[in-house]
Amino acid sequence: RRFYRGDTSSNLWACMDRGMQAEEENRWTFEIAWEAANKVGGIYTVIRSKAYVSTEEMGDQYCLIGPYKEATARTEVEEGPLGSPMLNEAVNSVRSQGFKIITGRWLVDGNPQVILMDIGSAAWKLDEFKSELWDKCNIGIPHLDIETNDAVILGCMVANLIGEFRRVTDMGDGNVPKIVAHFHEWQAGVGLIMLKIRHINVATVFTTHATLLGRYLCAGSTDFYNNLDKFNVDEEAGKRQIYHRYCLERAASHLSNVFTTVSDITGYEAEHLLKRKPDVITPNGLNVKKFSALHEFQNLHAVSKEKIHEFVRGHFYGHYDFDLDKTLYFFIAGRYEFGNKGADIFIEALARLNHYLKSAHPDITVVAFLIFPTKTNNFNVESLRGHAVTKSLRDTINDIQQKIGKRMYEVCLSERLPDATDLLQKEELIRLKRCIYSLQRNSLPPVTTHNIQDDWNDPVLNSVRRCNLINTSLDRVKIVFHPEFLSSTNPLFALDYEEFVRGCHLGVFPSYYEPWGYTPAECTVMGIPSITTNLSGFGCFMQEHIADPMSYGIYVIDRRFISLEDSVQQLAQYMFDFTRLNRRQRIIQRNRTERLSDMLDWRNLGIYYRQARMKALTMVFAGFKEEVMNGMGSLKYPRPISEPPSPSSSRVTTPAASVHGSDDESDSVDEEGELEELRVNH
Ligand code: UDP
Ligand code: G6P
Ligand code: GLC
Repeated sequence: RRFYRGDTSSNLWACMDRGMQAEEENRWTFEIAWEAANKVGGIYTVIRSKAYVSTEEMGDQYCLIGPYKEATARTEVEEGPLGSPMLNEAVNSVRSQGFKIITGRWLVDGNPQVILMDIGSAAWKLDEFKSELWDKCNIGIPHLDIETNDAVILGCMVANLIGEFRRVTDMGDGNVPKIVAHFHEWQAGVGLIMLKIRHINVATVFTTHATLLGRYLCAGSTDFYNNLDKFNVDEEAGKRQIYHRYCLERAASHLSNVFTTVSDITGYEAEHLLKRKPDVITPNGLNVKKFSALHEFQNLHAVSKEKIHEFVRGHFYGHYDFDLDKTLYFFIAGRYEFGNKGADIFIEALARLNHYLKSAHPDITVVAFLIFPTKTNNFNVESLRGHAVTKSLRDTINDIQQKIGKRMYEVCLSERLPDATDLLQKEELIRLKRCIYSLQRNSLPPVTTHNIQDDWNDPVLNSVRRCNLINTSLDRVKIVFHPEFLSSTNPLFALDYEEFVRGCHLGVFPSYYEPWGYTPAECTVMGIPSITTNLSGFGCFMQEHIADPMSYGIYVIDRRFISLEDSVQQLAQYMFDFTRLNRRQRIIQRNRTERLSDMLDWRNLGIYYRQARMKALTMVFAGFKEEVMNGMGSLKYPRPISEPPSPSSSRVTTPAASVHGSDDESDSVDEEGELEELRVNH
């Protein structure tokens, strides 16, 4: 591990001085994103998880800018003046133009300064902003496209602010502030365009996390990757009524000093669809927090899994005829892009897995969770009832248990041993019977926890119906579609997303369109194995840097070079192989997965952001020399020395009898041995 970190991030570590070097060099970074302190999808995770290394490097010379969204700002942002007086002056100057701006610190690791633009407060200027855009670059925005109108307002407010900042920091003494404005995705890209057309002397970086056209084309039934060089981009954008958005995206990528994408595969896409090849690839990292002892994350798995068990008991009441000790939890989660996220092939492969398990391992059950937010009319009664009846049983038992304890105490005090009639009384038996009767149900456990608004057109529901996955007792694969993101206030799970992931056994993300894909990366740093694809930035990155990803619990499905049918087959086979691992093998695999987390740490990957910024500065400001930086290069995680955990392996180093059933399963995994194996490797 030490070797890995030292090799890749020496330059970044050298600059971790909370902005002292940046201050000396009068170097500033603004990072602008629609998802700054505003959770939508993965870009929020980029900005949030990177805040720690950004502030370690830049201190208060670093500032985030995004739209003001009251709901999140109220819970995530501590309002107040910014650390730098010059920044406050610039903000006040823009406020005096009649706009509302909120400043403060984002309450996340690193505690970065944040400037939030109230879009509504500048709506009165929209026509003027749009005319400027039209006059200077002939991009016209349709009146009804609210999202783009908002992007225009944000962009112009940002350009006003950075322009003001440039003015107040220029003391006329030749020490010009070296500002990098780093914009993410097309919604923020308008700011970059405005800075350029107004000739404001700052260095710009534009990072795209996907291309608009790519996302749209993939959501249809296009053979995307084999035709990338053939699309008539203007026509395709026009057909989808996103031509103006496409123009903004393309203009931002071409006007930037440095253009970056989050993965090679998106770089390739950008080259063809945006007609610019990225200068730097900026892979996404995470703010990795290590536990001091390895077993701690394993313990967390057990604790969270118990909470998922509790949900399952409630959801499947009346049909609770499977052994939780032989039940595995698989899940898929993300924004509801059915095909792009690979939910289509997941469900198809689950149907096959169901068949394999029925014929080969009917004692094993897989509960597959699908977490995709969509419109609902709240939880369905059946789901709530299940949790109510199991709760009532639990409460009754707790009550009886207490009473029995009391009676036992009294009997023992009178120096005799209690017999059964002293303990459980008739009325208590009746109470228990009543609870058991209320566990009966006429219907099958529902495949969804909520009432989905457009039930008959919902793609997940239609697929599970078509594949006949309807949670009968015979089914070895059970389906739970939870059409809402998880939070700790959720009445069914009482788990937030992170805890939920920790409690599961396998994340399944067989995406077709996935520029990066945080979900499997998050699994990895939590030590949970996952399935990804060779069309996702993350999957390709892992294949590039790990000799044998599968032995580390990263299963990469081929969605690029084989047919759809073969991909489904491969996915079903990987899932089936996983179900055949015993507990001991799963524990070893989780340890191995978790070992990859350094590789995904911003402390290593942040170097590419620095590289992009430095490159941009070199292009704009005389005297800046581009640093020679060591990236990850061709460094590879070697194959683990011992055999990868496979269903056929029978390495039983700990002969202790298993408390969990199967003969060769044991909790007491030789983790030290596993660690030793890694030390030798590295
Ligand atoms: N996510 C979440 N709650 C959920 C499911 C997902 O917060 O119930 C988050 C997840 O942690 C990840 C993000 O949503 O950071 C999805 O990012 P990804 O890059 O996988 O996909 P995107 O939505 O950006 O396409
Ligand atoms: C962790 C815990 C063990 C537990 C195991 C279950 O390793 O530390 O106490 O037995 O998880 O693993 P499983 O893969 O069966 O959920
Ligand atoms: C986009 C992509 C996703 C990526 C995220 C962060 O939303 O869809 O794959 O992980 O941005 O870069």
